[in-house]
Amino acid sequence: MIQLIDPALDSYAEKHSYQPSALLQELEAYTYAHCSSPQMVTGSLQGSLLRMLVQLTGARRILEVGLFTGYSALTMAEVLPEDGTIVSCEIDAANADVARSFIERSPFGKKIAIRMGPALETIAELVGPFDLVFLDADKENYCSYYDQIVPKLRSGGLLIADNVLWSGRVLRPTEETDHAIAAFNAKVAQDSTVEAVLLTVRDGVSLIRKR
Ligand SMILES: C[S@@+](CC[C@H](N)C(=O)[O-])C[C@H]1O[C@@H](n2cnc3c(N)ncnc32)[C@H](O)[C@@H]1O
Repeated sequence: MIQLIDPALDSYAEKHSYQPSALLQELEAYTYAHCSSPQMVTGSLQGSLLRMLVQLTGARRILEVGLFTGYSALTMAEVLPEDGTIVSCEIDAANADVARSFIERSPFGKKIAIRMGPALETIAELVGPFDLVFLDADKENYCSYYDQIVPKLRSGGLLIADNVLWSGRVLRPTEETDHAIAAFNAKVAQDSTVEAVLLTVRDGVSLIRKR
């Protein structure tokens, strides 16, 4: 994975941003100690960005694609209004078990509903509109998720898509996932029903606002 930003600057940005709760710090440490592919965890800096976006948009209904060990869901739950909800899709039972164990310990965990199974099938059953969607799983299907999600976003709602630079591989796609993410970015850029900004945070985060 290429480093988009000098690690020292990355760490400086992290130190000068919102600091995650003790439970989230514990969750990140647990994920690195016990789970496979721990680098998938959203972590402190991107977590601060998610928190900020939930607060700025005033989101109440959130959809997440990719729960993993629950870091991003819990981060967003911490700043959702009391009656806010997050539906989070996950396919892997072991990941969901870890997430559940932390969600149960959080005073904000009751806002999170986990839906097990392939997210494309789960989302097909969900009724919108959502205020905010965090897309962070199953990169090969990003275009299919986009087609499903945009109609279920409210007008003015925000789709946040992670890993859109895919370690820089979008510049010279060779493998299936590289092509899928490059195709997603092209699709978003050509869609006049949305306005997007691709941020070079971590592995690339696109903010896509439905007009
Ligand atoms: C990048 S991780 C999500 C990270 C998480 N948002 C966080 O903050 O820690 C992607 C997760 O999506 C799950 N996943 C992969 N394919 C899926 C699918 N088709 N449907 C639902 N979940 C899927 C994986 O098991 C993994 O836990």
